[in-house]
Amino acid sequence: MAKVTIQKLKAMKENGEKISMITAYDYPTALLVDRAGIEIILVGDSLAMTVLGLETTVPITMEEMIHHIRPVVRGAKNPMIVGDMPFGSYNESKEQAVRNATRLMKEGGCDVIKLEGGTEVAETVKAIVDAGIPVMGHIGLTPQTISQLGGFKVQGKNLESAKALMEDARALEEAGAFSIVLECVPEELGKAITQQLSIPTIGIGAGRYTDGQVLVFHDLVGLFERFTPKFVKRYANLGEEIVKALEVYKQEVKEKKFPQQEHVFGGLEEEDLKRLY
Ligand code: KIV
Ligand code: NA
Repeated sequence: MAKVTIQKLKAMKENGEKISMITAYDYPTALLVDRAGIEIILVGDSLAMTVLGLETTVPITMEEMIHHIRPVVRGAKNPMIVGDMPFGSYNESKEQAVRNATRLMKEGGCDVIKLEGGTEVAETVKAIVDAGIPVMGHIGLTPQTISQLGGFKVQGKNLESAKALMEDARALEEAGAFSIVLECVPEELGKAITQQLSIPTIGIGAGRYTDGQVLVFHDLVGLFERFTPKFVKRYANLGEEIVKALEVYKQEVKEKKFPQQEHVFGGLEEEDLKRLY
């Protein structure tokens, strides 16, 4: 697979070829995702919860995002790498947004950036795009403003809120976004927005008809137990595998079964050994 470009994603939408996207926050995971041939890696601010153990995504900083984008860029050569703009890094002014988007690209090394919001961030999206930085939008359930939304629940369930989300999607496309994440909306709305837009939609809990799907890595492989939404499919149970391995290791240490001959170094002569004491 060659490096995934915006043009390739657009062509995939046009050909009805589904786009796969997954989060990654470190070098070994980036290597694995690249090997699997997944088209897009998101260094999501979800890392605040999945790897930093925070309650929400709100506290994560620009420095922490850059710190995690860098090793992902080193590990993944072919996937497009999306850097997530953290809460508070793009809402003060267009200048602040452009400055921080530039930092994610320049210091982090990601290919494109993502930020949350609809019509209210359209001007900001346009300013970032005009500065030469491709932007992925993110609407529906937007975790950074979870308190405003009143908790983790499906968005756009009535005509009024569905219309507002359709409006948000159009405004983002108009502002120059190259793609949009739709999070936690009814399948019918995911389908309608996908049909309305010429840019690819990537769904998470947005049904079967979006142009692509995204999941959080730790949810998919079973490394995050705290909270599993309905839209997650767990493809592996690595958490249990890892605990089993650790328990066997512990047992073998206690029972002196590890290390064995094959794990130890020799090389000190018998003569020298006598002079050691
Ligand atoms: O941070 C993240 O992982 C995300 C995805 C859920 C889209 O924004
Ligand atoms: Na995010």
